[in-house]
Amino acid sequence: MKLIACCSFKGGAGKTTALMGLCSSLAFNQKKVALFDADENRPLTKWKENALRNDAWDPQCEVFVADELPLLEDVYEQAEVSGFDYALADTHGGASELNGTIIASSDFLLVPTMLTPLDIDEALATYRYIIELLLAEGLQTHTAILRQRVPTGRLTVSQQAAYDVLDVLPLFDTSMYERDAFAAIKERGMLHMTVANMARNPAMRLMFRNNQRALDELAVIGAFVEKALEG
Ligand SMILES: Nc1ncnc2c1ncn2[C@@H]1O[C@H](COP(=O)(O)OP(=O)(O)OP(=O)(O)O)[C@@H](O)[C@H]1O
Ligand SMILES: [Mg+2]
Repeated sequence: MKLIACCSFKGGAGKTTALMGLCSSLAFNQKKVALFDADENRPLTKWKENALRNDAWDPQCEVFVADELPLLEDVYEQAEVSGFDYALADTHGGASELNGTIIASSDFLLVPTMLTPLDIDEALATYRYIIELLLAEGLQTHTAILRQRVPTGRLTVSQQAAYDVLDVLPLFDTSMYERDAFAAIKERGMLHMTVANMARNPAMRLMFRNNQRALDELAVIGAFVEKALEG
């Protein structure tokens, strides 16, 4: 089992949304995904409740509450023996012993960031913290910044500058765009399941197309992670 964590110092950087998207694309690819809810607000537990209500939960996936260190150890072992292919950990913002342990235990660290100057500052600080921790522990872990909530239209000069600053760091070769499908993922459930439900409803043809496009974008992000973890 490979552990993938979404982390950032900044609250609202798009960690949980990126994780839900990645989960949808891995599950769509027939992967068994364990979800570690390491944020005390338990967004993933709520996600599962919403998804079940909308018939949009993939039964190959399961949520494990892991918002305290001893729980994390337990659920990791539980998920590993249960044969999950991936575990995705959603962290809370900031630095903590729990976050540090997740970072040191991960095989892939995904740092999402939006494109405001404040977000970029926080993303750089997070990335620096991660690298220092990995160096101190002698660990070699895949890391990548994900440009999150990128406007689909033209970028402003300031957004373009923010976009360019990130070029010096390891980056996903694709962005996550500002889309209704992503904004609504927490309420609706797994995107591949939502898309399948929409495909069955002729009245939702337009929404189906938009959501399908979002799912196609996530497939590129999922493939990037899977390829990195293959070798
Ligand atoms: N690609 C996107 N398109 C549209 N909306 C997005 C996108 N990514 C994130 N959002 C929205 O931005 C807000 C913050 O995202 P999210 O909750 O994923 O951030 P977070 O880093 O997990 O926050 P927290 O630190 O509170 O856990 C949410 O309202 C979410 O719906
Ligand atoms: Mg979150």
